[in-house]
Amino acid sequence: MTVLPNKQGTLVSDTIRLENVALRYGEGPEVLHDVSIVIPQRSFYFLTGPSGAGKTSLMSLMYLARRPSRGRMKLFGEDVTGLKSDKAASFRRRLGVIFQDFRLLDHLSTFDNVALPLRIAGEQDSIITQNVSELLTWVGLEGLMEARPSTLSGGQQQRIAIARAVVNRPSLILADEPTGNVDDAIAIRLMQLFIEMHKLGSSVIIATHNESLVERFPFPRLHIEQGMVEALPAGATPSAITNGE
Ligand SMILES: Nc1ncnc2c1ncn2[C@@H]1O[C@H](COP(=O)(O)OP(=O)(O)OP(=O)(O)O)[C@@H](O)[C@H]1O
Ligand SMILES: [Mg+2]
Repeated sequence: MTVLPNKQGTLVSDTIRLENVALRYGEGPEVLHDVSIVIPQRSFYFLTGPSGAGKTSLMSLMYLARRPSRGRMKLFGEDVTGLKSDKAASFRRRLGVIFQDFRLLDHLSTFDNVALPLRIAGEQDSIITQNVSELLTWVGLEGLMEARPSTLSGGQQQRIAIARAVVNRPSLILADEPTGNVDDAIAIRLMQLFIEMHKLGSSVIIATHNESLVERFPFPRLHIEQGMVEALPAGATPSAITNGE
């Protein structure tokens, strides 16, 4: 893969730091309580927990779609606790997000969806063509570059979303169930892509329900249960699972 200039800041100590962060939607109950975690630079975490536990909610704080209801949060070393929406763009340029519902642009082809972050960054056409083609080949979509996303399967759309999220070599990749719609062989190939991006300098957080994927790869995990987040080393089982809850 052609190496683009790394977007990592050089003076940043942690990728993400949350201190006693809570999140509620409107006047509803808190869905996350007192979350205190540090994601160091260049780390790789799984994010696990039952359906409705708050994985997507935690990620929405990390990609600045929401702000904490209380507590403090830093992203790339800067306090973003009360960040105004119009100030979020410079942070978002350093993020690669794979949404659980993909959010592809259907008026654009597969190729153009993946090329978009590079076009926004003002990259040269020759570099765009090379990088996008290589990535689409990696994810097995080389024959579908001109297709519109809505004409493709869920698993194919998911792979477009992954290629789009990583094409710009982001400092932080947030992947929400990125292998939820593909078979095991493709899931492992996609994991290898994330591992490759990690080796190139990105921090990666992957939300997943797939315990066999978590067992297969030696990365630590953040586990959410009843709004609380537990950080666990690779290979450790969350206490709620051990207790059979
Ligand atoms: N936009 C919203 N408005 C109100 N409540 C919400 C909203 N989004 C999520 N919630 C609530 O927050 C809680 C956590 O939801 P979230 O989507 O973060 O869970 P999840 O762990 O990502 O689940 P899944 O594994 O099914 O994707 C749930 O109780 C859900 O109902
Ligand atoms: Mg979710």
